[in-house]
Amino acid sequence: MYAMRLMLIGRLAGPIADAGRLALARGAKVAQAESPEQALAALRAGKGADAIFVEVGRCDIAALIAALEAERFVVPVIACGVDTTAEQAAQAIEQGARDFLPLPPDADLIAAILEDASGEGEARSMIASAPAMQAAVALAARVAPSAATVLITGESGTGKEVMARFLHKKSKRSDGAFIAINCAAIPEALLESELFGHEKGAFTGAAARRLGKFEEAHGGTILLDEVSEMAPTLQAKLLRVLQEREVVRVGSNAPVKVDVRILATSNRDMPAFVAEGHFRADLYYRLNVITLDLPPLRERVQDIPALAAHFAAHYAEINGLPTRVLSGAALRMLQAHPWPGNVRELENAVHRAVLVADGDDIGPEAILLDAGLGPQGEREAAAAKILGISIRALREKLNNAAA
Ligand SMILES: Nc1ncnc2c1ncn2[C@@H]1O[C@H](COP(=O)(O)OP(=O)(O)OP(=O)(O)O)[C@@H](O)[C@H]1O
Ligand SMILES: [Mg+2]
Repeated sequence: MYAMRLMLIGRLAGPIADAGRLALARGAKVAQAESPEQALAALRAGKGADAIFVEVGRCDIAALIAALEAERFVVPVIACGVDTTAEQAAQAIEQGARDFLPLPPDADLIAAILEDASGEGEARSMIASAPAMQAAVALAARVAPSAATVLITGESGTGKEVMARFLHKKSKRSDGAFIAINCAAIPEALLESELFGHEKGAFTGAAARRLGKFEEAHGGTILLDEVSEMAPTLQAKLLRVLQEREVVRVGSNAPVKVDVRILATSNRDMPAFVAEGHFRADLYYRLNVITLDLPPLRERVQDIPALAAHFAAHYAEINGLPTRVLSGAALRMLQAHPWPGNVRELENAVHRAVLVADGDDIGPEAILLDAGLGPQGEREAAAAKILGISIRALREKLNNAAA
C-alpha cells in the first residue's frame, strides 16, 4: 500500500502537529518544515509531497502557492487554522488553497483529504463491463507485476490515468511513489530539468540543485503523460534513459542510476504519428512493449450504466445527499449520447444531475448534455474545485452531528 507523503509547514509543538499525528496513524509519511523556504528546499531535494498542510496566519498562503507554481511543484496546499473565521477560510481558498482544515483536526476530514490527494479513489474503482474494457483490464492485470513499459492510448477522458494508477497498484512497486508528469503542459526548455533534474547554476534561475521526477520516482512508477508531445531533442534523451536506466541532471555529466517503471500515455494515432516523423520510431518501440488501447466511450455503451451508477453513488456520498438511481429514461438518454469527452464528460454530467435532481430518482430533466462542449471544455469544468465542495459538505455534516 502506497504511503501518502504529507508535508507540514509549522512548529512541531503547534496544533498542526496533531494533524500530522492523525495522518501518521492513517499510514501517511509525514515530514515537517519550519518555514515555506525549508519546505521548498526539501521539495528541490527530491522529497516529494502529495499534500502540504500549512497554518493560516503563520504563513503567506498566496506567496507559498506562487513559489510552488514558479518552480512547478504540483502539490495541493491545505490551509489549516484554529478558530479561523469563515472569511479567513474562504480567503485561503481564493488564494489557491485546495481546501481548508479546521484545527484541532477531525480524523474523518484528514482521511477524506488524504484520500483525495493520493488519487486512491480512482485506483480503487476501475469499472469495466464492456467486453473490450474487460479485455483491457485483464491484460493490464497480467502485465502489471512485470517491469515492462506500457503505452496507454485512447481519446481524452477515456481513463488513461486511471489505468496507469491501476497498473502501479497491481505492481510489485505499489509501496513506491506514483509520479505523473504531463509532457504537453510544460515548456520544452523546462521539461528536461523537470524530468531529469538540474545542478545549481545549470541555467539562469537554477539557484539550487533540484532532483527530477525520475529520481523522485525511484523505486516506484513514473507516468509520462502525453509523451507524444515531447520535443525531438528530449525524445533522444528519454531514449537514453530507457536504454541505460540512468539520468543525467542538466548541468552535470554524472549519470545517476534510477530504478523506475515507465508508463506513458498518448491520445494520438501513434503509428501514424511515427510514420509522419513527429515521434522517433526507436523510442516508440521502447515505450510500446505493451500497448493498452482504451476504446472511446461511444464504442462501449455497455459501460455507461455501471459508470453512471458509480458516479451517482460517489457524488451523492461526497455531497452528503441520499443515493438515488438513474431512471430508465435518464439511462437511455446517457446511452444515446456520443460522449466526445468520454468518461470525464459522463462523470461531469452525472455529478451535475446528482446536484440538481429533486425526485426519488434521477430523471432525464436533471441531465444536461452540452452538444457544443468538447473535451477541452469538459476539462475546464473538472477544474471546478470538486473537492472543495465535498469537504465543505462533509464538514457541515460533522458540525451538524456535533450540534
Ligand atoms: N473505468 C473507469 N472507472 C471509473 N472511473 C473512470 C474510469 N475511466 C475514467 N474514469 C474517470 O473519468 C475521468 C477521466 O479519466 P482519466 O483522467 O484517467 O482520463 P485520461 O484518458 O487520462 O484523460 P486525458 O487524455 O484528458 O488526460 C476521471 O475522473 C476518472 O476517475
Ligand atoms: Mg490523463
